[in-house]
Amino acid sequence: MPSFKITTDKPARIECDVLAVPVYKGGEAGPGGAEIERKLGTTFKELLDRARLKGEPGDALSVPTLGKLPAKQVLLVGVGEKGAGAGAGRKAGAVVARRTGGAVKVATTVPQAVKGKAADAAGAFVEGYLLAAYRFDRYKNGDGRKSKTKEVRLLTGRGGSSTDVKRRVDRASILAEATSLARDLTNTPAGDFYPESFAQEARRVAKNLPLTVRVLTEKELRAGKYGGILGVGQGSARPPRLVEIRYRPAGAKRHVALVGKGITFDSGGINLKNDGLDWMKMDMAGGAAVLGAMLAVGRLKPKVNVTALICSAENMPSGNALRPGDVITMKGGKTVEIGNTDAEGRLVMADGIVHARDAKADVVVDIATLTGACMIALGDKAFGVMGNEQAEVDALLKAAETAGENAWQLPLYDEYRRKIDSEIADIRNIGDRYGGAITAGLFLKEFAGDTPWLHLDIAGPSRSTVDEFDTPKGATGVGVRTLVSYIESQ
Ligand code: BES
Ligand code: MN
Ligand code: ZN
Repeated sequence: MPSFKITTDKPARIECDVLAVPVYKGGEAGPGGAEIERKLGTTFKELLDRARLKGEPGDALSVPTLGKLPAKQVLLVGVGEKGAGAGAGRKAGAVVARRTGGAVKVATTVPQAVKGKAADAAGAFVEGYLLAAYRFDRYKNGDGRKSKTKEVRLLTGRGGSSTDVKRRVDRASILAEATSLARDLTNTPAGDFYPESFAQEARRVAKNLPLTVRVLTEKELRAGKYGGILGVGQGSARPPRLVEIRYRPAGAKRHVALVGKGITFDSGGINLKNDGLDWMKMDMAGGAAVLGAMLAVGRLKPKVNVTALICSAENMPSGNALRPGDVITMKGGKTVEIGNTDAEGRLVMADGIVHARDAKADVVVDIATLTGACMIALGDKAFGVMGNEQAEVDALLKAAETAGENAWQLPLYDEYRRKIDSEIADIRNIGDRYGGAITAGLFLKEFAGDTPWLHLDIAGPSRSTVDEFDTPKGATGVGVRTLVSYIESQ
């Protein structure tokens, strides 16, 4: 990763491989552009017109400077309409990363075109840059796609104090690192990442941070009667784990619990899936988001107590596996009839939610790749938000917006509760064909009881099938930034 330097240098005097400058929709040069147009002896509009570009977000055009400027190349970066905010800044940062990976020294005035404080603009730009520069190269011999960039100079003009800018740039780097961790774990195949791996990763993350880790192995899970986690895990050769990560800063009052789904492979179990199995190594994206968020919490040190729980198991068919029709007893004593072994996420999550309540959390936020139905409802660019208190749902939606992630509320209608009634147990783990994201939410709601609770269904946006802006193909690390901004809002 490059180092970011904050300077007030004049763009037309800076020596670098690529100088990225903003251009508005229609071709008007953004901050720093006028002098460059003069030196090049042309206008940005003229250059864009010839390339049939408009200056929309995503548009970018490399122009060799042929000795007219100390920069070897100018990169015109479209930022759309004048007055665009942080979202445009993130996009522009991503475009710069994607277009300048071959350059060693990069300089840019692009953040100056973003509305708002100089610090926020620089933060958004750097966040977009780093998220777009992410590569998963663990299994590649000699990956030629790695960025060569060593330095990115952010030319801030005169706006804002440089300590503020530096603070926001550091924060952006932390959020990007946390998101990259979540992506790495989620991209790792299930053969190399299983419940005990979550325990190891949590211990590694906690090592140099103010975090403590406790791992419940099968023995402790049995003693604590975690019937959901044990039931889902019982068919696998890789035993389940509940990983608890605690953050307790001095003087904090509020206590937030995070609960992440960590199904390291979801075969469906005895109700074996027949489709999309290669995707199901990613069924631990919620747990990965929780661990990523804790990495950021340990670095950013908000004054909020946080208890993070990763409910991890591998859902496999075998002679020991749960059978459809079985009844299991969950942590806390509720009984569940297994209508379908592929509705396993809610079983492990329910135990985690009960554990969070026992830990006396003021609010429980769960995050899970829970239902294909949520993906059908909202598509793959937004996660579903449900909860038992509207004020908390609103706070979460606001946190998502601040973080630049798409979130949309789904209703938890009481009328649908009967869909998960069971003839022989307290509740059943599946409903009928309709409203599957909601019936899954209603199932979890039973376990939250009267504790304020939020449920984030990230099945859709946890993986991207396209490589665009700050989102690479594969795991996205969705939720990390929303969770962090939600915790900071407390
Ligand atoms: N992990 C899946 C949900 C999922 C599907 C995530 C596609 C990402 C992409 C979950 O465990 C599951 O299998 N849910 C079932 C529930 C059904 C059996 C009630 C589903 O959505 O089909
Ligand atoms: Mn499943
Ligand atoms: Zn699953």
